[in-house]
Amino acid sequence: MREMERIISAKPRAEDLALDRSLRPKRLADFIGQEKVKENLKIAIAAAQGRGEALDHILFYGPPGLGKTTLAHIIAAEMGVNIKVTSGPAIERTGDIAAILTSLNKEDILFIDEVHRLGRVVEEFLYPVMEESILNIIIGKGPGARSLRLNVPQFTFIGATTRFALLSPPLRDRFGAVYRLDFYDQKSIEIILERSAELLGLEAEDGGLKEIARRARGTPRVANRLLKRVRDYAQVMAQGVITEEVALEALARLEIDAKGLDDIDHKVLRTIMEKFDGGPVGLDTIAASISEEADTIMDVYEPYLLQLGFLERTPRGRVATRLAYEHLGLPYKKGQPGLW
Ligand SMILES: Nc1ncnc2c1ncn2[C@@H]1O[C@H](COP(=O)(O)OP(=O)(O)OP(=O)(O)O)[C@@H](O)[C@H]1O
Ligand SMILES: [Mg+2]
Repeated sequence: MREMERIISAKPRAEDLALDRSLRPKRLADFIGQEKVKENLKIAIAAAQGRGEALDHILFYGPPGLGKTTLAHIIAAEMGVNIKVTSGPAIERTGDIAAILTSLNKEDILFIDEVHRLGRVVEEFLYPVMEESILNIIIGKGPGARSLRLNVPQFTFIGATTRFALLSPPLRDRFGAVYRLDFYDQKSIEIILERSAELLGLEAEDGGLKEIARRARGTPRVANRLLKRVRDYAQVMAQGVITEEVALEALARLEIDAKGLDDIDHKVLRTIMEKFDGGPVGLDTIAASISEEADTIMDVYEPYLLQLGFLERTPRGRVATRLAYEHLGLPYKKGQPGLW
């Protein structure tokens, strides 16, 4: 199964586009969970507004679907400024970024998604811009080349990435604030689902929403997608009401288990358990045995398995934990290598 076909993938799927737009919270007050991040942002925004200055540059990182893009838009709304949106791979030349920068007004926001994928030259071009709002533009080539220094208005650069480790340290250091988004707890996901159900005009019982929340992998994007699937099922099979029973039936059809794991997650765990005696086993070896890319496993499957405590990262490789054995109903051998 390809990543994009997984119903519980945290990455955006085509079906999410309209859904994301209609359900995306627009203001900080509608943004549920991530209390620490929200609190810090509130203070930073109030302080910047009090001084009449742009916000410090901000970096958001964390697994997909947790609200990085949403927060960037919310910050623009709270600051009452414009936001320009682009992404690391979309900016090929310094000219591309210079064109965007020279179109910004004071305090505007430049949001660069997948900021770890900015090219090196573009990145270095950004350093003086981030530090002193100065563009160094080279005109011409060879001995006749001249360099031009241009001032741009004070703006806020918001970067987002799922891969903090791939960000170059000099770029990382130039963000005044760095926020890590974590998986949401069950309660927060339930509240997000209640809000979404209301926005979609759905009739849903608490028990139904709880079952959906349990399988949402702590990820609002997954929660909303599952809600939509259950809604369809309820509409066709149960007069539209999402009861606990209806939710359970609908979710069973999607072939995800009680913790929101699907067969790729199971495959990763079983491979470690059955082929490699529970680990430790290197990421590349796991990737090769299930014909997936190591990067995809690390970005998409692993974070949630780690969060559940089903997987451990050790210096010698990945280890399946006792909890994982119990979840899959496999006998756990005491003294498994790599567990201490
Ligand atoms: N705190 C929240 N409260 C309510 N809904 C949320 C929250 N966070 C995210 N969502 C919902 O989840 C969807 C996905 O969030 P978003 O696009 O911001 O994630 P992301 O972190 O940018 O993901 P990616 O890494 O894939 O870009 C949003 O459209 C929104 O509907
Ligand atoms: Mg995003």
